Amino acid sequence: REVTVAVLGATGAVGEQILRNLEERSIPIKELRLLASARSAGKKVRFKGEEVEVQEATPESFEGVDIALFSAGGGVSEKFAPEAVKRGAVVVDNTNAFRMDPEVPLVVPEVNGDQIRHHKGIIANPNCSTIQMVVALKPLFDRFGFDRVIVSTYQAVSGSGAQAMEELTEQSRAALEGRQGPREIMPVGKLSKHYPIAFNTIPQCDVAQDNGYTLEEMKMIRETKKIFDDESIGVTATCVRVPVFRGHSESVYVELKEEFDLAEVRQILKEGEGIILQDDIANQEYPMPLDTSGRDEVFVGRVRKDTVNSRGLNLWVVSDNLLKGAATNAVQIAEKLVSQDSQ
Ligand code: A2P
Repeated sequence: REVTVAVLGATGAVGEQILRNLEERSIPIKELRLLASARSAGKKVRFKGEEVEVQEATPESFEGVDIALFSAGGGVSEKFAPEAVKRGAVVVDNTNAFRMDPEVPLVVPEVNGDQIRHHKGIIANPNCSTIQMVVALKPLFDRFGFDRVIVSTYQAVSGSGAQAMEELTEQSRAALEGRQGPREIMPVGKLSKHYPIAFNTIPQCDVAQDNGYTLEEMKMIRETKKIFDDESIGVTATCVRVPVFRGHSESVYVELKEEFDLAEVRQILKEGEGIILQDDIANQEYPMPLDTSGRDEVFVGRVRKDTVNSRGLNLWVVSDNLLKGAATNAVQIAEKLVSQDSQ
């Protein structure tokens, strides 16, 4: 069956990657609707060699849509998701708006793809940092279980959207020329204080919470438990923005429930779905954002046992935040929806 697909946020950093993904993957598309704000109405975007015109999103835009892929920000999702569902569409939402709603499955196909069939109109795509971590940890979770996960992230600016990428470019150029560049977006566009990200690191991704964590950190903590369906996993996170355009890196310490053999852990990771093991420190082999951006998989390296706790394992996890962290995961969910539908 051919389906009508809408992409809300089609002109954004993630939206653009969703279109590239839809071009490459297998969903049979009858009609594609590209939606954004009024600012982009009339703009032409290439899809499979043809020009498709971007329309301003309205509730009526979702009339006749089977699958709607949302990545235009949480507020926009809150406004339009109920309208799309009312008109019979299934929404795959990339924002934080519905992720912790108990009625909404939070899905990474390699980890809990079976949850897709429980949807009531909305399926949430997890946070980019959460997605790559849970893909890497899934086969280890199944084999050993976890007591503790301690993660520190090194997150690319594209996670804050196309304007943030522009800001890093301009700030870098300005700094090298001895000027001060624009400071409008980082770390969080809607907050009043802005800091340079070029030649800097900023220990704040998303807004502050009452407990002293940032929202990004709390997303990683809550979403990991929901995806593994295990409230007992003790997750903690420190999320840091770094001057990288594309590709999030993560230092992950995981305390397994039992002692483990490192060779077995490597073998499990090597065979894990969606994972590429790139681990040979002696030969300087490890994943880095520059090598892995543009790829759909999650890359794991620096696999080693803690020097103190024999149940402790350290990993370095890298993935393209715009692809597996967002667009690829959403399109994989859409593919599963289509194949379930035709069964
Ligand atoms: P537009 O380009 O018209 O502003 P990014 O994450 O890269 O910043 O992209 C955000 C995406 O969300 C863009 O496609 C943007 O469209 C879209 N968007 C932002 N606000 C709205 C809105 N109120 N209604 C529909 N789309 C929106």
